[in-house]
Amino acid sequence: MNNHIGIVGIGVMGSNIALNFSDNDINVSVYNKSQNKINQLISEDSSKNIYGFTDLEEFVKSIPKPRKILMLVPSGEATNSVVENLFNFIEEKDTLIDGGNAYYLDSIDLGKRCNKQGIEFIGMGISGGETGARTGPALMLGYEKKIPEDLISMMRKIAAKADGLECVGLYEGFGTGHFIKMLHNGIEYAEMQILAEAYNILRAAGFNNVAASEFFDNLKKEQQSSYLIEITSSILNTQKDGVYLIDKIKPIANHKGTGKLTVETSLNYGFPLPSIFEAFNARVESNYQKIWPITAKNIKIELNPNELKEAIYFSRLSTLTQGILFIEYFSKQENLEIKIEDVMQNWLEGCIIRSDLLKEIKSILKDGPPGRSIVELKQIQKNLDIRLENTKFLLSNCIKNNIPTPVMYSSLNWYINSSSEFNPSSLIQAQRDYFGAHTVQLHESDEFLHLNWD
Ligand code: 6PG
Repeated sequence: MNNHIGIVGIGVMGSNIALNFSDNDINVSVYNKSQNKINQLISEDSSKNIYGFTDLEEFVKSIPKPRKILMLVPSGEATNSVVENLFNFIEEKDTLIDGGNAYYLDSIDLGKRCNKQGIEFIGMGISGGETGARTGPALMLGYEKKIPEDLISMMRKIAAKADGLECVGLYEGFGTGHFIKMLHNGIEYAEMQILAEAYNILRAAGFNNVAASEFFDNLKKEQQSSYLIEITSSILNTQKDGVYLIDKIKPIANHKGTGKLTVETSLNYGFPLPSIFEAFNARVESNYQKIWPITAKNIKIELNPNELKEAIYFSRLSTLTQGILFIEYFSKQENLEIKIEDVMQNWLEGCIIRSDLLKEIKSILKDGPPGRSIVELKQIQKNLDIRLENTKFLLSNCIKNNIPTPVMYSSLNWYINSSSEFNPSSLIQAQRDYFGAHTVQLHESDEFLHLNWD
């Protein structure tokens, strides 16, 4: 069993993953142009299993064959150039693993390019930020045909664990690991925005930072917490020199593009992900604030905290369901047989969206008949229904009091719409047919007809 991995790229993620491998008794060869950076990393390696190289050929030669080389460099150009350089030295049966935040379609292309050279390829999404990389990330591996056993074993050693199992997902298809990671990030965007909306509501209800922090912290007691809720509580309670840090931060949200890719991909598939759309849009919109003279000042709201608690749960479950449905759809379209149980286990610990809610969904899936779509599991709908009235009441109150809640609102609208008997889209088709002869389908038929509107 080969117990040695190579890493190209020792930025924050690369260094932390290298230290994590080393602490798990795995030998690590790292490549970097800068000897100083290598020295710095080796000085932090108390387990003494890291070997540094500034020469790419020597780096490759130091790894026993068939080699496993993990690339942790920015996606796109940087990854492509590393691959081209590695092609000069690696050999048939070696495996390249792309651990950057790559777009899943790029992983499919890169996998094919590698295979043409006789090189194995794995696209691996990594979640958990720098701490996760060091102490146990969630790993989403996309492969074609087979993953070498020694590689799986090394990845299992460094990954987060939950319920006695590793949070490592093995998905068929070079791009599937990165697809699952992309959906993870879309869900991450939505949950972050839901919590920002909750913070806005709490402020309007007169909660100061400490009280708001406590509100989020209390969700733990009811098994409704998550990593993002925990850090929100901690952020709101952090002061430096007597000033809360949150009050010093400009309300302009940035992004590196993974949420945008989730939205673009769902558009390409014609699949609805309204809560993630709204979450991405909220970040964009935050860059274009105050375009009108300000009319909504000193906003106040009467709040029953239980209603907010339920609206947060409702919106998070609605969002997660949308994301899971898209994974189910993608899996069917691409003949991949992705098991949602596996995705839940994969996201249970280590990743940014780890939460009590995921644990709950995992256990609902376990009790339900295998292979059913998430929306066929009655408990999921029950969990939404019991919170529906309070969510509606709170959100209508927010509208009345000028508090925008785009993700909570679209999560609610999505549920109401997708559980309604009537949908008015017949009128859209009629309008299209009326002005442009775009045809309609009549009930009980798949045929497309142009109607006579005169
Ligand atoms: C993770 C994170 C991580 C990061 C992204 C998204 O799972 O560890 O999702 O990948 O946060 O870079 O960041 P943006 O908010 O900048 O898109």
